[in-house]
Amino acid sequence: MVNKKKWAALAMAALFSAGVLAAGCGGEKKAAEKKPEKLTLYCGLMEDHMIKTVKEFEKDTGIKVEAVRMSSGEILGRINAEKNAPKASVWYGGPADGFIQAQEYGLLDKYVSPNAAKIPDKFKDKDGYWTGIYVGYLGFSSNQKLLAEKGVEAPKTWQDLLKPEFKGQVVMANPGSSGTAYTMLATMVQLLGEEKGLAYMKALNGQIKTYTKSGTAPGRMAGQGECTVGITFLHDAIKYREEGMKDLVLTAPAEGTGYEIGAVAMIKGGPEQEAAKKFIDWILTKKAQEMGSTTGSYQFLTNPEAAPPKQAAEIKDTKLINYDLKWAGTNRAKLVEKWNAAVN
Ligand code: G6P
Repeated sequence: MVNKKKWAALAMAALFSAGVLAAGCGGEKKAAEKKPEKLTLYCGLMEDHMIKTVKEFEKDTGIKVEAVRMSSGEILGRINAEKNAPKASVWYGGPADGFIQAQEYGLLDKYVSPNAAKIPDKFKDKDGYWTGIYVGYLGFSSNQKLLAEKGVEAPKTWQDLLKPEFKGQVVMANPGSSGTAYTMLATMVQLLGEEKGLAYMKALNGQIKTYTKSGTAPGRMAGQGECTVGITFLHDAIKYREEGMKDLVLTAPAEGTGYEIGAVAMIKGGPEQEAAKKFIDWILTKKAQEMGSTTGSYQFLTNPEAAPPKQAAEIKDTKLINYDLKWAGTNRAKLVEKWNAAVN
């Protein structure tokens, strides 16, 4: 596990060092293909979900897909670094906050899919830069055995995470690399205001065992008994529990919690624009949205025709804050920088 200071530094590098990752990526053809044959995408979803999507899309369209799984901050850093010679054409999955920042950096192309007409306005960008495909709620994934050993209950509030019993026992991802962790940071600032929100993050830093790169790792670590509490999207913990991590218990903060709208978008100047449009049309369909649950991705879905996964029923009444996504997206870089300053 990389130590937290190192991750904070890496995250900043990913966000702001445009050009570093782009070394050696020149020479891509930019012209749109007449008959799409291949598609390159960067994916913010779980690997098994990504593989299933690729297989089914290839089967349905004959378009060959190359896909790479990364966390949100990494994808943003990569497409920013590659902006003069984009290698991928679609950003598929991960919270929309990152997409809003990408849009502000001029890294996305507008595309209003005919299938987006069905998606409610609250789940898509009004200018067509990104479209929501799923919704996930943030919460706590705790290890029942470790809780019992410490004689403490699973956290029920954000403040509970600061209890002495949880010192060195809480794991979250780095908000610079992970969309999950950024959702948490933006949630705290929206709940408490900037000053108190950052003071909370600083206090929480004293409880943190490690900051992981991806947002799903804290849930897995809690499930494996490597920490008592992980801050994750709750649907990810349901997946891990189903996969055998039976000690996982899910709770959500009584003050209310933040949520993600997972999105899809076209990368500006991507080499396979026609294939990208076909992918976006396809991923918005009922069939493609419902497919996630076959690999244990239990997010709520944005297509009203798609059935929500029954596994997510236990979290459907989670108390949510009125998460200001636009604010979270436009303030992402600044807030991550302030978080870095607060915890380092
Ligand atoms: C998992 C979740 C998604 C989420 C993503 C964010 O795949 O199932 O709902 O969008 O993580 O990943 P990140 O590593 O950026 O936090």
